[in-house]
Amino acid sequence: MARKFVAIVFLLCLATIGWAVQPSHAHGPKHNPARHQYVMHHGLPESYSELRNLLPPTSANLTEGERLYRENCALCHGETGQGDGEGALGLDPAPPSLTGIFDPSAPAMMETSSDGQMMSGREMMGGADMDAYTFWAVSEGGAPTGSAMPAYKDILTAEERWRILLYVANGFSAKTSQ
Ligand code: HEC
Repeated sequence: MARKFVAIVFLLCLATIGWAVQPSHAHGPKHNPARHQYVMHHGLPESYSELRNLLPPTSANLTEGERLYRENCALCHGETGQGDGEGALGLDPAPPSLTGIFDPSAPAMMETSSDGQMMSGREMMGGADMDAYTFWAVSEGGAPTGSAMPAYKDILTAEERWRILLYVANGFSAKTSQ
């Protein structure tokens, strides 16, 4: 009887360990290999590659960026940019996390390239400028990647798109850093 009990406890422990060490891809940071690979092969379109965000991080720009983000992007990318909005359910490819996208050293941006190397998303894309890259993604949407991401070039003005990206680059905070 005691032996049977020990065996059951042992099995339960194994089951728990097995569950705990399961790969956690579903919960980890969400990457965007389709778009990164597109840029690796084709580069950024010329009309975007030189563009930079020239808006200063004033509280007016950031507050407006936050409002526009919540209105247009949070549905899929989530309120805090983790790729966990309600609209994300069932999308393939899924909306990636946007947190840390402007920080080349953020561990959340590390991914495995097709030859099995760990690289940052930016390295994967040959050092593409993140202002230009994100502005291109927002403007042209999923046309180059076959995703559900809408193209915002006819929905939002360029200034509105840059305000949103200013807010994203500021860590999803409307607080000014000064
Ligand atoms: C209908 C859902 C949806 C909405 C709404 C949406 N996106 Fe996306 N977004 C996606 C998906 C899916 C991807 C991944 C595939 C791709 O890049 O096309 C993506 C990719 C991106 C990327 C590229 C990120 C990377 O790591 O390569 C950026 C930047 C981005 N979205 C910003 C935005 C912004 C800013 C808005 C609002 C103006 C927005 N998205 C609205 C679904 C959405």
